[in-house]
Amino acid sequence: MEKSCLLDRHDCELRVECPQRGLEINPAKLTPFVSPDSMRHKESEPANYTASIKANSSPDEPSGTIHNWYRTVLGYSEDLVSRLLEELPFDLRTNIVDPFCGSGTTLVECMKRGIDCVGIDANPASFFISQVKTNWSLRGDRLSELCNEIREIYPRALRNTSSRRRDPTYVYLDSSGMIERGWISPLPLHKALTIKSCIQNLKTTKKYRNALMLALIAEVTYGASNVRFGPELYCGESKDDHDVLLGFCKRVQQMASDLDRVTGIDFGIAEVFLGDSRECSRVLDGVCKGSFAGVISSPPYPTEHDYTRNARLELVFLEEVSDRESLRRIKKRMIRSHTKGIYKQDSDAKLVEANDSVQSIVRTLKRKVRYKNHGFARLYPKVVEEYFGGMKQHLMSIKSVLSPASRCAYILGDQSSYLRVHIPTAEVLSSVAAEVGFKTLEIRRWRKRWSTTTCRELDENILILESPDG
Ligand SMILES: C[S@@+](CC[C@H](N)C(=O)[O-])C[C@H]1O[C@@H](n2cnc3c(N)ncnc32)[C@H](O)[C@@H]1O
Repeated sequence: MEKSCLLDRHDCELRVECPQRGLEINPAKLTPFVSPDSMRHKESEPANYTASIKANSSPDEPSGTIHNWYRTVLGYSEDLVSRLLEELPFDLRTNIVDPFCGSGTTLVECMKRGIDCVGIDANPASFFISQVKTNWSLRGDRLSELCNEIREIYPRALRNTSSRRRDPTYVYLDSSGMIERGWISPLPLHKALTIKSCIQNLKTTKKYRNALMLALIAEVTYGASNVRFGPELYCGESKDDHDVLLGFCKRVQQMASDLDRVTGIDFGIAEVFLGDSRECSRVLDGVCKGSFAGVISSPPYPTEHDYTRNARLELVFLEEVSDRESLRRIKKRMIRSHTKGIYKQDSDAKLVEANDSVQSIVRTLKRKVRYKNHGFARLYPKVVEEYFGGMKQHLMSIKSVLSPASRCAYILGDQSSYLRVHIPTAEVLSSVAAEVGFKTLEIRRWRKRWSTTTCRELDENILILESPDG
C-alpha cells in the first residue's frame, strides 16, 4: 500500500487536506554530544552531585532496560538524559520534573539513578505508558504467571468472534474508518482484541492488568498493525496475519526480566500526572511546590506532528478515544504544534503579541501564505503564535514549582516545514523565556536531523535555562 496520510474521520478541525511531510534522523549526520568541558557553567557545579549520581546507578544494567517496553518515535534517548543529569548542576536531593514526559524516558533514567521525579503529559496514552514504566513494585514472576494464564485461555477466547464486534475498540476503529483505511487488518485485530478481553477477565490487580495492556498496545502498534513511522505515521504493507500472542508474550517476558533486574537498585520514586503543562502549578498543586531541582524535557515543536494521531491505536485500545468529542478533549489540552489541533477559541497567541522573534516569523509566514488557497497553509502563522504563546504560558506556570536558580533543559528542534520559513525554535523560546524571567545559560546543538520536506539538515538544540530567583 502506498504511503498515505491516514486521517481518520475525526481528525480534521478547521481544514480538509493533509500535506505529506516529515523529518528523518539521518544517523550518519548525527553530531557528537558536546563534551562536558565545553559547558560554560561548569565551574558553578558542586562537586558532590556527579558523585552522588554515580553511586546510585547500576553498572550491570543494560541501558534499554525498562525504556524498551515502549518507545515513542520522536522521544529522545536515555543517553541524552543521562548525560544531562551528570553535567548539569541539579540539586539531586530534590526532584526533577519532565512536563512533557511522553513515554517516560526522563523519569525512568532518573529512577535508575535514585533521583525522585515527576512527569506530566496531556496525552492519556503517554500518561498510561509512563505510569506503567515507572511502577517497579510489580513482580516479574507474577507477570509471567499471568502471561501463561492468557496463553491457556486464548485459544478458546479466539473462537468467540461475535463479542469482538461489540468491543469499544472495534466500534471506534470501524466507525472512524480506520479499519477501512488499513491501519490494522481484520485477523491481527481480532487476535489483539482477544488478548485484550483475556487481560480484562484475569483475576488480578489493576497494576498488573495495566502492565499487560502496555505489552499489548506496544505489540499492536509495532507488530500487528500496518502503521509505520517515517517519523510521521503512514500505512505500510498490509499484514493479513500476525502472531500477536507470540509478540505479546515476548514483550511480557522482557518486562518480567527487566523488573527482576531493577529489584536490587535503590531507585528513585516517580509520580506521573495527566494534565496540561501550560497549567503546571495547578497540576502539581501540593507536590513539592517550589522545590523542583530542574527540568529535562522535550516539548512538542511547531510542526505538523499530531501526538494523538501517532498514538491513535494506543488511545483506542486503552478506550481513551471512543468518539470525536473524546479525541477533541485530548487535543485541546495540548500545546498547539500542528494545523489539525487549532481551535477558534485558542488565545495563547496573545501572550507573544509583543515578542519580536515570534512576530517576525509570523509576518513572513503571513506574507507567504497570502497566495496559498489550501486551508492548512493559512493556519501556519496561527500555529506558530499559539505554539510560542502556549510555551510562554507553560514557563509562567512552571516557574512557581521550581526552586530558585534551578536548571531547565528543553530539547527543541528547528523547523522549516512551513513554506520553508526557518523557525529556530530554541532561540525563539529563549527570547520568550526571558520575558518570563528565565535566564538563558546556553543553547547547545545536540544533533542534526534530515528534513525530507526541505531536503536540508536542521538542528536539534538543548536550551538550558535558569529559573528566576523566587
Ligand atoms: C516530544 S514528546 C516527548 C517525548 C519524551 N521525551 C519521550 O522520550 O518519550 C512531547 C510530549 O508532549 C506532550 N504534550 C503536548 N502538549 C502538552 C501539554 N500541553 N501538556 C503536557 N504534555 C503535552 C505530548 O503528548 C508528547 O507526549
